[in-house]
Amino acid sequence: MDIKELGPIGAELTNLDLTQLSKEDIPHIRQSFLDYSVIVFRNQNLNPIDLKNISRLWGEALIHPVFKGIENHPEIIEIRNYGEKYHTNAHWHSDVTFEECPPDATLLYSLEVPEEGGDTLFSSQYLAYEDLDMDLKSSLSGKLAIHSNIGVLMLSGGDPKDAKTVEHPIFREHPETGKKALYVTEAFVKSIKDLDSAESRRILDLLYKQASKEEYIYRHKWSNGDLVVWDNRSVQHYAEHGYGDATRTMHRLTTSGSKPF
Ligand code: SIN
Repeated sequence: MDIKELGPIGAELTNLDLTQLSKEDIPHIRQSFLDYSVIVFRNQNLNPIDLKNISRLWGEALIHPVFKGIENHPEIIEIRNYGEKYHTNAHWHSDVTFEECPPDATLLYSLEVPEEGGDTLFSSQYLAYEDLDMDLKSSLSGKLAIHSNIGVLMLSGGDPKDAKTVEHPIFREHPETGKKALYVTEAFVKSIKDLDSAESRRILDLLYKQASKEEYIYRHKWSNGDLVVWDNRSVQHYAEHGYGDATRTMHRLTTSGSKPF
């Protein structure tokens, strides 16, 4: 296995068939995931069982709390082209932060991708935290953001009365690396606890800008058979559209996580 760095974050792990991993490969893959936050494996041929087997490197495969999985594999969601208007992942987010214990890792495997468009962008939230203005860092230290599932609930035809919220720290510490990361997602955060709504809005807008600065980003251009695994504790991602009616079919799986602190 060789490692090729991809940008401010991200690394491609080459010369590896993920269906034939040796015992020695596993700690290298785990460590690369922690070191680079986003790891890429090209030219793989993975069926849903393979994908679930590989996901065990990061934890237990989770069933999405809102979206229904594919037949016989409820843990795997199929992402398809529903048209630009209904493309719901074109915003910066970390996955499922509206849960008490959001998933540690997400695995996204490309079955069929368009020649143009459909890139996924990943932004390092370690860098976003490190570079944040010192005064803002100290005034927000220990503060909580309120995350809600109302957006995904309504997308899936649910009743807004069933929406729920959870509170997570604005800056979370990664439980394995010990590093701090910015942890507010435009998709799911509604406000900052204990701030009035104007101040909360003003600060969130600053933090969202900070979270997605060009210099923290790795842009993944997909080919069929790519598996990308990212660490939701240290990156946010954004799925661009821009492929019209072309086919883009992906399998996505998330793994168990713990309460952010
Ligand atoms: C996602 O946001 O989880 C999916 C990303 C993508 O389709 O590129």
